[in-house]
Amino acid sequence: MDIILLGPPGAGKGTQAQGLVERHGMVQLSTGDMLRAAVKAGTDVGKMADEIMKAGKLFPDELMAEIVGEQMAQIPAETGLIFDGYPRTEPQAVLLDGLLEKHGRKLDHVIELGVDEDALVARITGRFSCANCGALYHDTANPTSQEGVCDSCGGTEFKRRPDDNEETVRHRMGVYRSETAPILPGYEARGIVTRVDGMASIEDVAASLDAVLS
Ligand code: AP5
Repeated sequence: MDIILLGPPGAGKGTQAQGLVERHGMVQLSTGDMLRAAVKAGTDVGKMADEIMKAGKLFPDELMAEIVGEQMAQIPAETGLIFDGYPRTEPQAVLLDGLLEKHGRKLDHVIELGVDEDALVARITGRFSCANCGALYHDTANPTSQEGVCDSCGGTEFKRRPDDNEETVRHRMGVYRSETAPILPGYEARGIVTRVDGMASIEDVAASLDAVLS
């Protein structure tokens, strides 16, 4: 089963994708994570991505599709994919259709996490992740069970994203409204969109996603 998780910054796409990987053995393809890996590796792509991400703008469509295509090529056809943060523009949606066809895949669900934008800034500015395994946490909504120790791997180093400040987050929300939300009607016309209440608890959102996938 191949699905898209759609929603504005902080909607919970990454958190829910990590849960789906654990519960269903799917593979998460997060374009944000791919770009952050390129930034960390210091490649030319990474240098370009660094500036774009810090400004909360979007990385070029064609290049993004190339990177996603390279990742898809490494995943067996029988393994379900979760597209997290991709596609984000109408051209990206068209390019993704081409990639899916090339790899003999079909989109089963587009799940939109509906959220109250006012809550998102608080969510994002409280977000941190394990520097070792990438597990996602929140200062108040989803802290580690033992302070300073990652629940998933026992790591003790954590990090915060440079684009998780209020000014950039508000810009990213505007980009979501103007560039990403317009791709939904195309998927609605195919009858594959489900809306899930992303303001519910992490556990309840996970249960709703499992119900969609069952
Ligand atoms: P990306 O990394 O994709 O960021 P985003 O889409 O803005 O989404 P976030 O990762 O901020 O939020 P999320 O929905 O995953 O929420 P999370 O689960 O972490 O992209 C970053 C940048 O890369 C973009 O701005 C752009 O520049 C570039 N980029 C990426 N993809 C691109 C593309 N396709 N094309 C072009 N450019 C691209 O949750 C947030 C916090 O809330 C966490 O702390 C979590 O613990 C907490 N939380 C989660 N769910 C709940 C809940 N139900 N209740 C309470 N707290 C919760």
